[in-house]
Amino acid sequence: MAIPVSAFKSYSLFGGATDAMVQWWYGHNAVGFYLTAAFLGMMYYFVPVQIGRPIYSYRLSIVHFWALIASYMWAGGHHLHYSALPDWTQSLAMVFSIILFAPSWGGMINGVLTLSGSWDKLRTDPIIRFMIVALSFYAMSTFEGPMMSIKTVNALSHNTDWTVGHVHSGALGWVGMITIGSLYVLLPRIYNKPKMYSISLITTHFWLATAGTIFYIVSMWISGIGQGMMWLATNPDGTLVYSFVDTVEFSHFPYIGRAWWLLVCIGYVCDGI
Ligand code: HEM
Ligand code: HEM
Repeated sequence: MAIPVSAFKSYSLFGGATDAMVQWWYGHNAVGFYLTAAFLGMMYYFVPVQIGRPIYSYRLSIVHFWALIASYMWAGGHHLHYSALPDWTQSLAMVFSIILFAPSWGGMINGVLTLSGSWDKLRTDPIIRFMIVALSFYAMSTFEGPMMSIKTVNALSHNTDWTVGHVHSGALGWVGMITIGSLYVLLPRIYNKPKMYSISLITTHFWLATAGTIFYIVSMWISGIGQGMMWLATNPDGTLVYSFVDTVEFSHFPYIGRAWWLLVCIGYVCDGI
């Protein structure tokens, strides 16, 4: 809720920490409902279409949906650990973030079990490979997220590249991969063609996208955990061991690793051609 003062400027009705909490209520719901729920909808539709049989458990999908809705709403405070937000609000967000692991993995398992029994298709169908890798990244990011929301872990990870790596295991690994898989199912149907132009190009795209995403995430883990440890290191007299510039120098090598995102882009270009 904001009061506009001109066409491009407005003031929040809430002040300070309350404003931050309201903003992160929306911020985290963007992750939960924009970057997760919509793409789970795609998973529940396109995985059965491509594999040629119904979802493993319809009942589990309903429980999954309502459990996600009920718990995501309370987790936004984990973005504001160690801030001026009341401590109980931070702890409540931490507890709900840990609870969130259960519905997330319930949904992921529902997708994986839909695919199980057809593992042989992984060898011949790169579209299914996109889907299983998307589900694997969903599993990984929704395990990592609850861990990062534990306050002692967040003391290390907050504001470091670890968060950026987590963002992209969700955004590139899960959201990106399931979208690409779904588009490959959809495109031939839209254009009334029996299949995509080239299966081997899809395979190339798959390996480039997977390798690029892994390079991104692993280099951010190295950079982020290193930054966190260097920022926290103190001498016996309480002074800092490292200056900020030391941590920037440390991140130089992992940043070169992240530049392998080019692999992902080349994948998109190959596919366009
Ligand atoms: C159980 C599920 C998840 C939990 C509990 C969780 C938890 C967290 C935590 C603790 C942070 C770090 C906050 C900080 O220190 O600043 C974070 C950041 C973030 N997460 Fe997750 N996460 C989950 C899943 C996901 C998924 C699936 C995605 C994307 C599809 C995602 C996207 C993000 C983004 C974009 C940020 C960074 C926000 C910023 O710009 O500061 N998360 N998450
Ligand atoms: C080849 C693909 C991509 C590349 C190379 C890339 C690169 C980047 C870079 C360099 C940053 C800045 C991180 C920093 O502060 O050091 C960033 C931030 C971010 N990206 Fe991406 N990105 C890609 C795809 C995506 C996708 C597909 C999504 C969403 C679905 C996404 C969501 C975000 C978000 C939410 C942030 C802010 C993270 C934060 O502040 O914690 N990215 N990205």
